[in-house]
Amino acid sequence: MTATALEAAPAQANSPYFSETVLWVKHWTDRLFSFAITRPPTFRFRSGEFVMIGLPPAEGQAKPILRAYSIASPSFAEELEFLSIKVTDGPLTSRLQHIQPGDTVLLGKKPTGTLVLDAVRPGKRLFLFGTGTGLAPFLSVARDPDAYSKFEQVIVGHGVREVAELAYRDLFTHEIFEDPLVGEEAQKQLVYYPTVTREAFQNQGRFTDLITSGKLLADLGIDQPKFDPEQDRVMLCGSMAFIKDMAAVCEAQGLVEGSNAEPGDFVLERAFVG
Ligand code: A2P
Repeated sequence: MTATALEAAPAQANSPYFSETVLWVKHWTDRLFSFAITRPPTFRFRSGEFVMIGLPPAEGQAKPILRAYSIASPSFAEELEFLSIKVTDGPLTSRLQHIQPGDTVLLGKKPTGTLVLDAVRPGKRLFLFGTGTGLAPFLSVARDPDAYSKFEQVIVGHGVREVAELAYRDLFTHEIFEDPLVGEEAQKQLVYYPTVTREAFQNQGRFTDLITSGKLLADLGIDQPKFDPEQDRVMLCGSMAFIKDMAAVCEAQGLVEGSNAEPGDFVLERAFVG
């Protein structure tokens, strides 16, 4: 071992962050990209949780800038995947959007969150509604075999403004069915429901309206006018306005909010925005 390596080891151990390596980057649109980093052997998380992500300080910066990101890969995955927006003057994403394989990304050591299977009561159907990058935690949950053993049906709803923002459409329409771990269950139990609000598409409108009008359940072939608190469970991730309005819709239909301490019928979390 060289002197430098000897010096570097304790720094990593004392730091609140792991320094991980970028494995790949995929740009979906000029506002949206995904990337994956190496996973430290000691890093444990539950599917659906979020963690702090950042970059080493730039020249002249005293401290790194970190933001909370949902982990998009499932809990058993070898790499950690994230879905991010790009904000031109965003303190983190203005730099993060330029990362390349081999670059270093900082990873917090304490993943946490409520969009986890433990925070919802047992039920028959699990609805996962995300808008924009709010899809990220559900990429994790929907690729976790536990989702399919706990629920008969898993519905992934992704709401976006434009068709091009339907990131991971190929995953939910093809790739997941070939997945060695969840492919077979997904074929029988997974339903993907994308909806677009500002362009023509097969499904259109906001989830709040699609649920209140009964159209979403009707489109899914579920013969109920609204959610059934006995068997329907819901997870929400998106903008503040989205989770607030969706929570009101869920409550109006008789669902009770849950948490890690007290599992309920629906749980929510704000998607990363800055
Ligand atoms: P809309 O185009 O009608 O605003 P955003 O990028 O603003 O987070 O929006 C992502 C998606 O979520 C869009 O389809 C948007 O619809 C929808 N959306 C935004 N706010 C709400 C809300 N309060 N309730 C339901 N859907 C929303």
